[in-house]
Amino acid sequence: MMIGVPKETKIREYRVGMTPAGVNLLVEDGHAVLIQKGAGEASGISDLDYLQAGAAIIDTAAPLYAGSDLIVKVKEPLPEEFSLYRDGQLLFTYLHLAPNPDLTRFLLERRIAGLGYETVQMEDGSLPLLFPMSLIAGRMAVQIGAHFLEKENGGKGLLLSGAPGVPPARMVVLGGGAVGENAARLAIGANADVTLIDINPRKLAMLDERYQGRLRTLYSTPYAIRDAVVGADLVIGAVLVPGGRAPHLVTRAMVAAMAPGSVIVDVAIDQGGCVETIRPTTHEQPVYEVDGVLHYGVTNIPGAVCRTSTFALTNATLPYVRLLAAHGLEAVFRDRALLSGVNTQGGLVRHPAVAAALDLPYEPLTH
Ligand SMILES: NC(=O)c1ccc[n+]([C@@H]2O[C@H](COP(=O)([O-])OP(=O)(O)OC[C@H]3O[C@@H](n4cnc5c(N)ncnc54)[C@H](O)[C@@H]3O)[C@@H](O)[C@H]2O)c1
Repeated sequence: MMIGVPKETKIREYRVGMTPAGVNLLVEDGHAVLIQKGAGEASGISDLDYLQAGAAIIDTAAPLYAGSDLIVKVKEPLPEEFSLYRDGQLLFTYLHLAPNPDLTRFLLERRIAGLGYETVQMEDGSLPLLFPMSLIAGRMAVQIGAHFLEKENGGKGLLLSGAPGVPPARMVVLGGGAVGENAARLAIGANADVTLIDINPRKLAMLDERYQGRLRTLYSTPYAIRDAVVGADLVIGAVLVPGGRAPHLVTRAMVAAMAPGSVIVDVAIDQGGCVETIRPTTHEQPVYEVDGVLHYGVTNIPGAVCRTSTFALTNATLPYVRLLAAHGLEAVFRDRALLSGVNTQGGLVRHPAVAAALDLPYEPLTH
């Protein structure tokens, strides 16, 4: 199979969909890998590294897309890239379709088999291709929040840890999965005052046990959320309903009741965000204010630590890329997790949560 890895074009997206180790394995499996010139540069991977691993370097995007059966990348196709795709092409990347009807329409019209990393789901409910980036985004959310709490950057002028005789900053995390737990872990390490809210009692019990009194856990109800959020210095949004739109847990009224200079980092923005007043932002212009509260809604947070992220992501995606390269779309019938990754195929929506979020008919993919 011909596998194409384009250079990412999203603003300040520096990750790349494959490392030389991945190229090497795929070439040994008998496939050809096309890498767009400079695709790995920002992650510290040179064209020569890819060449030595057995890839062919292609100067521009158009011939790479035209010559590939399978496109492996990091972020969703952008409107300016739509014309590059071939009808019926196999695409493996983050898609996040629930809040993106235009992209969904494009994938359906062009009958693209769109497999979204974020919905590849194991039988125990875990999300192996979201997990590595969620872990990184969760850890970064604390760094980001700490940065914007500084007066210079628009915040209240608070240090997360406080100081002897001065209380620490109060951080509230909504959702205790990969993002939420990693945010909590880092903030606990920084001696912040951390409250985590989740709707899954088993998760709360596990976190309570794991952090031994250093983390306050709350069961998710609108009442508990309001109470915690209005007094928070830093709120981190980290809920997920796999494939679906994030529920708006923090309302406009709650934001209005927060003190000026407080910070919201809504990591769940890629699924629409869990704060009513959040909208997508970019690394170039990451924050805006509503009622004096700073809102951060960058949809590709891990892109900022691209070298760490590229390797963490591709370690997780490579086994699935090999399966797709070996069997084409048939691979999804050999691996149930990969089957749940299929969002669109043959002009139909193939994931129930995506269909529900966009009010489109759902047709399961069958053998
Ligand atoms: N912005 C970015 O760059 C970036 C990077 C990585 C991940 N993400 C996003 O972050 C979000 C979280 O991802 P994750 O991997 O941690 O998901 P996860 O499935 O591991 O965790 C989500 C948690 O939310 C909880 N939850 C669901 N509904 C809830 C509710 N009503 N109240 C409280 N908790 C609730 C679940 O019980 C679960 O523990 C996703 O939208 C993901 O796509 C964004």
